[in-house]
Amino acid sequence: MSSFIQWIDERFPLTKVWNEHLAQYYAPKNFNFWYFFGSLAMLVLVNQIVTGVWLTMNYKPDANLAFASVEYIMRDVNWGWLVRYLHSTGASAFFIVIYLHMFRGLIYGSYRKPRELLWIIGVIIYLAMMATAFFGYLLPWGQMSYWGAQVIVNLFSAIPVIGDDLSVWIRGDYVISDATLNRFFAFHYLLPFILAALVFIHIVALHKVGSNNPDGIEIKKGPKGNRWSDTAPADGIPFHPYYTVKDIVGVAGFLIVFLGIVFFVPEMGGRFLEHPNFEPANPLKTPPHIAPVWYFTPFYAMLRAVPSFAGTQVWGVLVMGASIVILFFLPWLDKSPVKSIRYKGMISKVMITLFVIDFLVLGYLGMLPATPGRTLVAQIGTVFYFLFFLAMPIYSKIEKTKPVPERVTQ
Ligand code: HEM
Repeated sequence: MSSFIQWIDERFPLTKVWNEHLAQYYAPKNFNFWYFFGSLAMLVLVNQIVTGVWLTMNYKPDANLAFASVEYIMRDVNWGWLVRYLHSTGASAFFIVIYLHMFRGLIYGSYRKPRELLWIIGVIIYLAMMATAFFGYLLPWGQMSYWGAQVIVNLFSAIPVIGDDLSVWIRGDYVISDATLNRFFAFHYLLPFILAALVFIHIVALHKVGSNNPDGIEIKKGPKGNRWSDTAPADGIPFHPYYTVKDIVGVAGFLIVFLGIVFFVPEMGGRFLEHPNFEPANPLKTPPHIAPVWYFTPFYAMLRAVPSFAGTQVWGVLVMGASIVILFFLPWLDKSPVKSIRYKGMISKVMITLFVIDFLVLGYLGMLPATPGRTLVAQIGTVFYFLFFLAMPIYSKIEKTKPVPERVTQ
């Protein structure tokens, strides 16, 4: 075996990569369960790609055949139901895992210097995930697939001057049609591989600067020398075997919950697979209530919260776009002298708690039909969403913080 490895090492830096990124990559020793979600996101991405490729073996991207081909997968293809549920539930699991992963970054200040670029790559990944999910949702060609896509593509018509032509260009037709289905399928197959490439870049950026940790202490700046190396950070432990083993515990916990949902409640009461999507797309019949899947609803609520002025929805579209774009600026909005929520002041703690509640409330409102009362709540929620970010340079600076310990705490 060792002569085989040597043969490879002379032609490819296998041992070097293994050591630099695993066996001699020193990560802070105080990771908690919030640090599971990066590796879990990788697991879910692999699940989506593998099950997606297998679904494609029986799926037909044709407006006349798509719906029936999905039913064929569910009823006739051996284990087809499992492959499909792993994929459809996997999409929701992906967003749950990513929202928790992003939340971890938010509470521990993982977006702060020197990890700004790592965070920005993350936001690009998030955008690519949203695009992938949007394209994928049209493929089963159910009522919600069709009308959801219609609503979202129509938003582009709100853009002044070029809007109408742009939406025709996106659809390849005046309405969502076979041409749209074909191109959405092409992009839905392509984007996950772009996502995989982005994840690689994300990890390269992470390993350049090293992981943050729940204390927000830069272990590379601390004392040197540990049990394994005299030059490694004293508060670091080798990623392998310590965190590979720990991540496997996370995987086991995740799979228990995930497979429990896949086997027993794959549709999650119409949240993961919506009821109108069990009816084939009908361009002549608009469903009474059109709403995107849950992971888009906070943004959809913000879109609807903005009233249309002079008959154009453009302001709502801009607000919705801004709600994502603002994430790119987060590293420069936080002016606190400390990174982690553990040592931040009361205002930051209250703001983050309210932000989470706000995001959940907006998500809930985005699922429901709009009423004047709900729109008012969504408007307040939208204002708070932006206030959280835009007021951060002030409250993160003026609040009293706790002293950060020299070494990581356990
Ligand atoms: C396919 C999606 C993604 C995958 C597979 C992924 C994977 C990972 C992995 C494996 C880590 C190291 C382990 C960990 O810290 O949990 C990590 C760290 C990180 N990720 Fe992601 N990530 C994804 C999306 C995102 C997104 C959307 C953001 C933010 C917008 C983000 C921001 C970060 C940050 C800031 C860190 C460093 C955290 C720290 O050191 O405290 N990632 N990511």
